Amino acid sequence: MTKPVNKAVFPMAGLGTRFLPVTRAIPKEMLPVVDKPLVQWAVEEAASAGIEKFIFVTAPGKEAIEAHFGPTPVLDHALEEKGKTGLCEGSRALTELGARITCVLQPEPLGLGHAVWCTREQVGDEPFAVLLPDDMILGKTPCLQQMMAAYGEVGGNVVAVENVPCKHTDRYGIVDPGNGTVSEETGALVPVKGLVEKPEPAKAPSTLSVIGRYILQPQVFEHLDRKTRGVDEEIQLTDALAKMVDTLPFHGLRFSGERFDCGDKIGYLKANMAFAHDRDALRGAVSALCRTFA
Ligand code: UTP
Repeated sequence: MTKPVNKAVFPMAGLGTRFLPVTRAIPKEMLPVVDKPLVQWAVEEAASAGIEKFIFVTAPGKEAIEAHFGPTPVLDHALEEKGKTGLCEGSRALTELGARITCVLQPEPLGLGHAVWCTREQVGDEPFAVLLPDDMILGKTPCLQQMMAAYGEVGGNVVAVENVPCKHTDRYGIVDPGNGTVSEETGALVPVKGLVEKPEPAKAPSTLSVIGRYILQPQVFEHLDRKTRGVDEEIQLTDALAKMVDTLPFHGLRFSGERFDCGDKIGYLKANMAFAHDRDALRGAVSALCRTFA
């Protein structure tokens, strides 16, 4: 029996330098995809996978993230008066999600591993999910839900993986799948025998990259406690995970769906088009718009 996953951590304390100048005053996680900020898409994904508590890692100046989930009585009342019931229900649903959020400050952006380490008290001694809101996945079944199903079978650590072009391995955490045959099939579980952060193509153990969805065991905090600096002098989550491959079951899930890197301008634009196209009410207009650029 695997222990249930009830909590999810959302690291959002990065600087968002690839989106300057917009990210000077607006957190990257508040950038909209269609009509919801990145953070809302991620929280809704977690909620649909059965997560009960959301732990936000934010930084000074990123208060807008928490405010997005706060109560808006004046707005709700005005929407009700105008008969805009759907919008009013949507607003109240957000406030209900907000009641399940705990915020933790990462005083300095020392790396993703450090951001996760900052949540050790809130997570406690139980497995937890990590979602990076700037990675969005469009598919029939939300990515974290697919991972929960896989976790139910194998336990341990489960990370979402996808193939990247060989020349781009130095942008990602890359999985070493060992010597066995690695299935290319969607839904397949790949054994993780090692992990390397941003290896040069010539040194990469594969082209399978870890994307921003994880289910982790609390032992990861013991490794993060050492605060070892890795690539770019940051405390890397990948390095702590690499220490766990011999002691726990560890798998990569080839998830189904298309992933968009919304931390990158083109990835962000593509996500807006794809998620708008996914809505019945917008599909025709989006298709027409795409043709004007063809
Ligand atoms: P990124 O490197 O993609 O985000 O980190 P960034 O640093 O905000 O953006 P750029 O690269 O400067 O444009 C991946 C995720 O980890 C979080 C980020 O907020 C993002 O969600 N993160 C990163 C932290 O929470 N703390 C950190 O110290 C570093």
